[in-house]
Amino acid sequence: MMIPFNKPYLTGKEMHYIYQAVYSGKISGNGIFTNKCQEFFEKKYGFRKALLTTSCTDALEMCAILADIKPGDEVIVPSYTFVSTALAFVRAGARIVFVDSHTDYPNLNEGEIEKFITPDTKAIVPVHYAGFACDMDKIMSVAEKYNLIVIEDAAQAIDSFYKGRPLGSIGHLAAFSFHETKNINAGEGGMLAINDERYIKRSEIIWEKGTNRAEFFRGEVNKYGWCDTGSSFLPSEIIAAYLWAQLENLEDIQKKRIELWEHYYHGLKEWAISKNVGLPVLPPYASKNGHIFYLVCRSVDQRTSLINKLRENGVHAVFHYLSLHRSNYYGSIHGDRELPNSDYFSDTLVRLPLYYELSFEDVDNIISLIKEL
Ligand SMILES: Cc1ncc(COP(=O)(O)O)c(C=O)c1O
Repeated sequence: MMIPFNKPYLTGKEMHYIYQAVYSGKISGNGIFTNKCQEFFEKKYGFRKALLTTSCTDALEMCAILADIKPGDEVIVPSYTFVSTALAFVRAGARIVFVDSHTDYPNLNEGEIEKFITPDTKAIVPVHYAGFACDMDKIMSVAEKYNLIVIEDAAQAIDSFYKGRPLGSIGHLAAFSFHETKNINAGEGGMLAINDERYIKRSEIIWEKGTNRAEFFRGEVNKYGWCDTGSSFLPSEIIAAYLWAQLENLEDIQKKRIELWEHYYHGLKEWAISKNVGLPVLPPYASKNGHIFYLVCRSVDQRTSLINKLRENGVHAVFHYLSLHRSNYYGSIHGDRELPNSDYFSDTLVRLPLYYELSFEDVDNIISLIKEL
């Protein structure tokens, strides 16, 4: 029997709500389910405003527009991240300045940010890898000193916290993903969280193709028109209905995922320490949300044998990001400045299966296979 790396969780009510959305006669965006989801996020996590988007990539593109990124601006981003963290700003003309990871975990090294700030720097985009918080106090104070915008890439960070504060509620803006690999999924989906009052009005306009249609629907204006740049960033009610079913089960999903994460951690801890294999490092100010369980192997060869051995035994484990500063698309623009920690995680980090339906027995079997290696 194959244990996949991921299996999108179904609560059982997705089709029920999709049916309701379809037969409500309004299946375009910004309807009843969209509002229910947005209100849920605003209330639970204290975001000033939440807007559902069709992906985290789209939410990041909205951030690039809101931050008024122009050719020549610089944006500080970790190299160990998904393409979208950088791409959304490159599309607006920014030059990406990569910061290396910590030596013992993939988040960007907050202490390094300041030395890369120039008069052209416009924004910092920290990524909370595996849902583990970056040191937001440090990042916000550098941003304040140089008047920069902080955009949290919280793609993996739903229901995770920094010193008790929800991730995504600290930066001026934040982007979440509801891709099928995430804890809460809508197939493809995302959300923009707006915490700085200054961006709220414009964000709704950008979201709705540069028009003030959202204001019109609320009855605040009697006609709507073209006011600004933008795109069609909002998902249909069908996606929002699916997402609503997930949100109703958020606590249950999180509880199970965190238990599985802890089962891996305690089952592998002694072995990993004795073999000098890296375990996830949770900074003291961060919580875990059970998004990813990973190991850091000693070499790329060790990781390849681990992945192969697991695969031969029906377990699908996967590596993660390839350093963006070495990518075909951006490597030559970045130049030859080394980011050794990012490269190290590109070569050695392996993610183990983690999804709601995974059983504790499955985790025990995976742990035994790993220990045999
Ligand atoms: C850190 C990070 N940012 C952005 C994204 C893009 O998310 P989406 O697929 O919702 O556009 C991902 C995707 O997994 C990610 O890991």
